[in-house]
Amino acid sequence: MVRSSDISGFYKLSQEDRIKLVAEFMGVNRESLPLPNPPPPLPLENSIGFFPINFAVANYFLIDGKDYLIPMATEEPSVVAAASNGAKMARSGGGFFTGAGEQLMLSEVVIKGAKNDFNPEDYYRELKSLADSQMPSVVAAGGGLKEVKTERLGNYLVVKFWVDTADSMGANALDRLAEAVAPIIETATGGKALLRVLSNRVERRLAWAEAKVPLEALGGEEVARSVEEASQFASLSEERAVTHNKGIMNGVSAVALATGNDTRALEAAAHSYACREGKYRPLSSWHVEGDRLVGRIDLPIPVGTVGGGVRSNEAAVFSLKLLGVSKAVELGRVMAAVGLAQNLAALKALVTEGIQKGHMRLAARTIAVTAGAVGDQVDRVADEMIAMGVVRVDVAKEILGRLNK
Ligand code: MEV
Repeated sequence: MVRSSDISGFYKLSQEDRIKLVAEFMGVNRESLPLPNPPPPLPLENSIGFFPINFAVANYFLIDGKDYLIPMATEEPSVVAAASNGAKMARSGGGFFTGAGEQLMLSEVVIKGAKNDFNPEDYYRELKSLADSQMPSVVAAGGGLKEVKTERLGNYLVVKFWVDTADSMGANALDRLAEAVAPIIETATGGKALLRVLSNRVERRLAWAEAKVPLEALGGEEVARSVEEASQFASLSEERAVTHNKGIMNGVSAVALATGNDTRALEAAAHSYACREGKYRPLSSWHVEGDRLVGRIDLPIPVGTVGGGVRSNEAAVFSLKLLGVSKAVELGRVMAAVGLAQNLAALKALVTEGIQKGHMRLAARTIAVTAGAVGDQVDRVADEMIAMGVVRVDVAKEILGRLNK
């Protein structure tokens, strides 16, 4: 069969039918998917169980000519609908085109009371072999320590280690590295290490994505011009830029959670990157170019496809399998595309009907299911509640009672 994420009405299918389609997309048996059964309990500290969160797939994603179903874990259902909607618009312009630059993470040793200067070149071989010995699997995958720099900040000497962490996010390796090399710097400087830890500022592990959306896919030039204007306004107003970026991170964080990645590290890196020019700025921008609305996003993507958090979680392993992604850099590029799709859908909704209408529709469907609606009853109950302008379980039950008569 053709492996396409262009599945219209996906949201209307039963959960079981969606799972079957996902299995078909992956070319495997439905029985081989670890869904929807919860994963076996892990011996986690203080755990009293699992906190359920919606695990969904966004469709319509065409990224660098390849079709993807995007796994997303999020408590906000409109996020998945918006991602699919943005991807559908981008798809009609050829989808997303992505890329990534160097992939370096930073770990730091902060020394106080340094009596002597520290020239990293004098110690590079020693530092490199000790650093690399902390991360044999990273080195085997082509990564390892790449660069050492120093900086004086007040009374402190900061020694910075730039590391290619290959397909791991690298937090543990970076922390281990800092702790391992600190004694060399203490001895050389006569100072004492105050801190030995990675930095969540990630400015050398970026991914980008672009889309060229035909104006008609947006509903015409006027809408496109308004999206352009909303994008420009986000550059003017820091208050708006934060919300603009929050919308982007709705998608990025949902993919991060679904793939077992550290959502807080991504958020910290993204917001710090947004401030890199000394003013908080939007991570994406849109402008009209001929008969297209052209968008671009650039953001730091500290994520991994290997390592504890990812591999110990059956659902995360499944997500990576569904994405068909094994390289961290590809996952980062996919996330950039998801962020851009999310942003496009949000801006389009904001400059046209507003975002409440879509939220209300999703809320109405959720309430209809809570009231016991099944199959096509869900839409009928939801439609009636929306027409009445009241979305409540008691109202849904009353409508359902009438339908069942
Ligand atoms: C809501 O979670 C996200 C939005 O506010 C993003 C935006 O305003 O761009 C819709």
